[in-house]
Amino acid sequence: MTIRLWPITENFGAEVEGVDLRKPPAGDTLAALEQAFARHAVLVFPEQVLTPDQHRDAAAAFGSLEPMAARPAGSDKAGRTMEHLIDVSNLTDADRPWDADSRSRGVQLANQLWHTDSSFKFVPARASFLYGRSIPAFAGQTEFADLRAAWDALDPATQAVIDGKVAYHSLLTSRRKTGFSDFSAAEVAAMQPVPQVLVRRLPSGRRSLYLASHIGAIAGMADGEAHALVDRLIAHATQRQFVYSHRWRAGDLVMWDNRCTMHRVKPFDDLYARRDLQRATVLDSANSCELAGVAVA
Ligand code: OGA
Ligand code: MN
Repeated sequence: MTIRLWPITENFGAEVEGVDLRKPPAGDTLAALEQAFARHAVLVFPEQVLTPDQHRDAAAAFGSLEPMAARPAGSDKAGRTMEHLIDVSNLTDADRPWDADSRSRGVQLANQLWHTDSSFKFVPARASFLYGRSIPAFAGQTEFADLRAAWDALDPATQAVIDGKVAYHSLLTSRRKTGFSDFSAAEVAAMQPVPQVLVRRLPSGRRSLYLASHIGAIAGMADGEAHALVDRLIAHATQRQFVYSHRWRAGDLVMWDNRCTMHRVKPFDDLYARRDLQRATVLDSANSCELAGVAVA
């Protein structure tokens, strides 16, 4: 079957018909998907039936996989971790929803804040591949914001202020915002802020904001001013006209471009309902400052 694209809006989000990801995409199919991805930034592949290995291999067709950190000691879901796949469920090793005071719950709460994946790593994520295995009947949507359209609509004065600026991203920043600070000294040491440009140029030539709740500082700017700016940019970029809200069905695989989108999960009844998703992630080719030729102090 040939691939058919069903755009969600003209340039942001598309459903993909005619691709069975049990076989990693290659050749013309892969090229067509890369082309669709460059335009739409979020691709939805419904009705996929994937083992964890097939999920991983489908993602690996698009580039090098991001290694997933081992679960910290004390995790209540260590047994759900697989190499190259991150467990994004609310389930524990006992295959039941977590407890209110679960550490995994505390860590994952920050997924409700607008973010892009792994911008807190020196080489961040290019693409994420989230696969829905069990989906609650109510809520738990994932929202996506188009940061290219948000850049295009930004006033020229703000564009001039932020173009060329370097922001510092840390996982600690977003976790602190949700009140979670239960990190060991070793974990904190491994989460030092990393530099990323605030505005990217994509291979397509389009410009994009590069934003996340992980940003704690901007080089050359007082922290108060930087926080106000980042809050204002995130508020701008997540206006309704830039956002697609994905209502999950079991079997959906959603692929998004972390270089030019943000996402967040909407709350659901997480102490009772099962929501079982897993993610594979493909690395970008380099740090965003390196790609832009911006010097980092
Ligand atoms: C992620 C993420 C949100 C969700 O997997 O990177 O942010 O909807 N997930 O579970
Ligand atoms: Mn995420």
